[in-house]
Amino acid sequence: MAKRPVKQTRRKAPLRGRLHPALPVEGATQAPKKWSGRFAEGLDPRALAFGQSVHFDQKLAGYDIQGSLAHARMLGKIGVLKASEVTQIVQGLEEIGREISSGRFEFKAELEDVHRNIEAALMAKIGSVGGKLHTARSRNDQVALDFRLYCRDQTRALLTALVGLEKVFLKLAKDYSEVLMPGYTHLQRAQPILFSHHLLAYVEMWDRDRSRLEQALERMNVLPLGSGALAGTSFALDREQVARELGFREVSHNSLDAVSDRDFAIELASVASLLMMHLSRLSEELILWSSSEFGFLELPQSFCTGSSMMPQKINPDIPELIRGKTGRVYGHLLGLLTLMKSLPLAYNKDMQEDKEAVFDLCETVLQSVEVMAAMMAQAKPNQERMRQAVSDSLLLATDLADWLVEQGSDFRQAHEVVGQVVRYALEQGKGLTELTLVELKKFSPLLTEAVYRRLTPEQAVAARRVMGGTARPNVLREIARLEQRLASFSLPKK
Ligand code: ARG
Repeated sequence: MAKRPVKQTRRKAPLRGRLHPALPVEGATQAPKKWSGRFAEGLDPRALAFGQSVHFDQKLAGYDIQGSLAHARMLGKIGVLKASEVTQIVQGLEEIGREISSGRFEFKAELEDVHRNIEAALMAKIGSVGGKLHTARSRNDQVALDFRLYCRDQTRALLTALVGLEKVFLKLAKDYSEVLMPGYTHLQRAQPILFSHHLLAYVEMWDRDRSRLEQALERMNVLPLGSGALAGTSFALDREQVARELGFREVSHNSLDAVSDRDFAIELASVASLLMMHLSRLSEELILWSSSEFGFLELPQSFCTGSSMMPQKINPDIPELIRGKTGRVYGHLLGLLTLMKSLPLAYNKDMQEDKEAVFDLCETVLQSVEVMAAMMAQAKPNQERMRQAVSDSLLLATDLADWLVEQGSDFRQAHEVVGQVVRYALEQGKGLTELTLVELKKFSPLLTEAVYRRLTPEQAVAARRVMGGTARPNVLREIARLEQRLASFSLPKK
């Protein structure tokens, strides 16, 4: 292919990597370039520095090229481009793709965004033929396409990471399936449960998160390209072919909607926010559990940090950060909703603000899931401390009441009686099971020797055989069911 030297730009030092948008564009005091024949003046350097997005949207470069390749091939097929032109464009784009992935490509702020950077580079390589690529296309449908491709990949990566996290939890649940702990309400000890039952609660949440991600993926998997700037295009495009090549399930049906819809990104942000909420609740528990007050769990030291002053400290930074980053992800969700809420149809430049939020939230969520999985794969429950905590006989108060009901009392009466027993035991400084039968009988004639056999944490757990309850056979069955679900998971094609 005839290679032309890449055109020198006005700037001496090229802008690379992440530029702060407020930075003045170096060299831009020289005669600024006009946008088109319509313009009598070039862009003020301050407007350029403020409006350019290439320091962040260069993340879309790979998708931009992928989309352009499909567009060029389709233009060839419908006869808008000659075969030789398609070849030139494809080769040029592929070369640019290699330059970008090897870090040799210079993104230029004065070219505003990733789309114009790539187009300009193509024209510098193959000349005016490169200018034909943009036939029947606008940056509005182009960016909508790139952004969907990005979100699609991120959703798939998140699904894979979630499966990994669920597997870690299922393994923990299996390895420690006999360990009891107190279950809590209001953060007060409530009833004995299996540690595994608690872990599986999170797997349930993540299972729902995955199903939401899969549904979001399905809705986002629609091709916007071909919508032009807003009204469609006068060229007889074969949009179906582009959709097939890029793995979209269908083409969009309304050009105005297609270029101005960001629901797919906001839906991903909201599903991601729910997922972060789940991670954050877990993080909170891990932080509590690894405190000396609880001492239920030891996080691997390789995921904790020390204090610069207090030599004894081992701090649970990772769950704290996940809890903290949850706020950041919610912030992005709200930012995106607010960004879109007053925009008239169709495209508005405001929408350029969607990307940093979505990039940041996707990276944050993915990292959070991955680091949680890696950390928990090495976490060790402290069975001794859990045993101590669950041995608090007050946790058996419900079981005592249930037992009274089994002997013929009604539950409200039983509740009252047990409340009195508990008060008496506390006054005596005794546990429930330390009370003698003589003492117990003062509260109800129904209480007999047999009650003691029922009042153990093991019995309390074993008794909860109801579907969804904490009895061990249930929990083992749930582990098996969830394992099977995970084993049959396959990443949606696209
Ligand atoms: N950088 C723009 C964005 O992110 C691309 C679309 C620009 N379209 C336009 N008409 N100015 O939204």
